Amino acid sequence: MSTNITFHPGSVDGEERIALTGQRGVTIWLTGLSASGKSTIACALEQHLLHLHRFVYRLDGDNIRFGLNKDLGFDEKSRNENIRRISEVSKLFTDSSCITITAFISPYRADRDLARELHQKALLPFLEVFVDAPLAVLEERDPKGLYKKARAGEIKGKPILQGQTLIKCPADFTGISAPYEAPETPEIHIKTDETSVEGSVRIITDYLAKNGYVA
Ligand code: PPS
Repeated sequence: MSTNITFHPGSVDGEERIALTGQRGVTIWLTGLSASGKSTIACALEQHLLHLHRFVYRLDGDNIRFGLNKDLGFDEKSRNENIRRISEVSKLFTDSSCITITAFISPYRADRDLARELHQKALLPFLEVFVDAPLAVLEERDPKGLYKKARAGEIKGKPILQGQTLIKCPADFTGISAPYEAPETPEIHIKTDETSVEGSVRIITDYLAKNGYVA
């Protein structure tokens, strides 16, 4: 972190902002393997809440990698940095009273825990939603053909060279050759091989209503 910087608090505190905007922010953090349904559920949930005239915004893994995180790849360090930045961004959105829906694989538990911790320190609500389906089902869905490519060894990590010699070229597709650390105690667990998109949205909105996140 830089030195000689000073944090400037605003003139309106969190509770006053909530009273003035009429909405409490919350981060809804969707995590799960590729093709598990994160983006589909995030879109449907965003649409549903917008039609209820809520202030809501969606941050999606693929989309963010076209802009803010276009400098990042899929090695472990890049994924850590991807999630660190999104944790900070979602914290800012939620602080602004937004219902913030994030849809990132976010494969490492420590990264997701960091996201939660950042929110907790800022007294902002954070809900982890595990979007889950068996790997065999995901490979069957394979909407982008990425599992097929990964199985064929076509999705590789950065080659590691020693001089001119290739010593390692790790494949790193999540769930096949890179790890996914499933949440142990998520607030919400959705099994998308058993639940429709509408059903998934209902599970989340019921949770939001029951726990006082939306009136
Ligand atoms: S991560 O792990 O949280 O940093 O990933 P994320 O930012 O969510 O990006 C995941 C999407 O990137 C595409 N993609 C890959 N995913 C996993 N592993 C590798 N190697 C990879 N290469 C490209 C893929 O479309 C992911 O989108 P989803 O929606 O999850 O399928």
